[in-house]
Amino acid sequence: MLRELDALASPRIASPPGPELAGEVSKRSEILGSRQGGSQGEGGNEPLPSGPAECMPEQLLLNCRAMRKHDLAAARANEAFHDAIDSGTYAAGAPHLVHPSLVVLHRRLIEDTILEARRHAAEPTVLELGAGDGSATRPMLELGARVTAIDVSQRMLERLGRSCADFGDRLELECALAQEVVARRTRRFDIVVASSFLHHVPDYIALISDAVGLMEPRGQFFSFQDPMRYDGLGRFGSAFSRVAYLSWRVRRGDVLAGLLRRLRRSRGVYLADSVHDNTEYHVTRNGVDQHAIAAHLQRMGFECRVVRYFNTQSAAFQRLGEALGVENTFAVLARRTG
Ligand SMILES: C[S@@+](CC[C@H](N)C(=O)[O-])C[C@H]1O[C@@H](n2cnc3c(N)ncnc32)[C@H](O)[C@@H]1O
Repeated sequence: MLRELDALASPRIASPPGPELAGEVSKRSEILGSRQGGSQGEGGNEPLPSGPAECMPEQLLLNCRAMRKHDLAAARANEAFHDAIDSGTYAAGAPHLVHPSLVVLHRRLIEDTILEARRHAAEPTVLELGAGDGSATRPMLELGARVTAIDVSQRMLERLGRSCADFGDRLELECALAQEVVARRTRRFDIVVASSFLHHVPDYIALISDAVGLMEPRGQFFSFQDPMRYDGLGRFGSAFSRVAYLSWRVRRGDVLAGLLRRLRRSRGVYLADSVHDNTEYHVTRNGVDQHAIAAHLQRMGFECRVVRYFNTQSAAFQRLGEALGVENTFAVLARRTG
């Protein structure tokens, strides 16, 4: 799954949308308050500060532990890309939204997570990072959760607000950077969800550490749809995934430019100001390290299950890859045990 990006737009700071929205998208920092200066230690469970809500200027954003320069560049690239893309084009490049087997797997793992939380809380609270237009949000709301959906793209959140308008006050939307929200730590949640999101974040381990600090004692972390480390796929898995991706990619246009970008990256050259290099951050590098995430969560007191599966854009290759047992993508279900 080596997705390339085609749409470009100039980055901008999101502002609140017009009043036509059913779900209200809050301006960054309005809901959760502001906690400047970074997060506490890993997995800390100390009382959360409360305080007036404020927007964080870029310099203060960079002081958050989980927000380094690369993270800010990647977040701005994501804002530009996702604000510019329409829902059809987005879904066409998102296999977990179109292939029935992946839609079912996504839904089943969400159910496992919410039903586990409902053993301890009648209405589990969820912090969803990079919620997009809501492919994970809606099922969680249907299962009785209360969701705070965060996304840097105002346009994505507007679509989410419209499609989940029927859930009223169980849904809160905030247009903000995930790193900023987890650093503030003004509220606790039963579950933190990152669906098709971690690969957009350069320092996803720092983000997970800060997210764990927001969790209730029996908190859960659920992530889905991130590319496994490419250097661990094996020769066949790697070649198969590449051919499957290319069979889809050549029909998307911009082929020569995409090829040149690939050649450049194969020499280890990445451009700091390139939306193409920064949006799907780990997809254009070496995937996401599932072992590092699992080990990190275990160190923080979580029981961790990594679910591996095959994922590609082409429907024919999706069926073939599943039949051959190829694995290139993963989900994480982690529960705090202590
Ligand atoms: C691939 S989409 C996933 C959307 C949805 N969760 C899903 O599973 O279909 C990734 C989303 O993360 C958002 N995003 C990327 N980086 C972000 C960041 N640092 N903070 C908040 N949102 C971010 C993008 O705007 C985009 O909507």
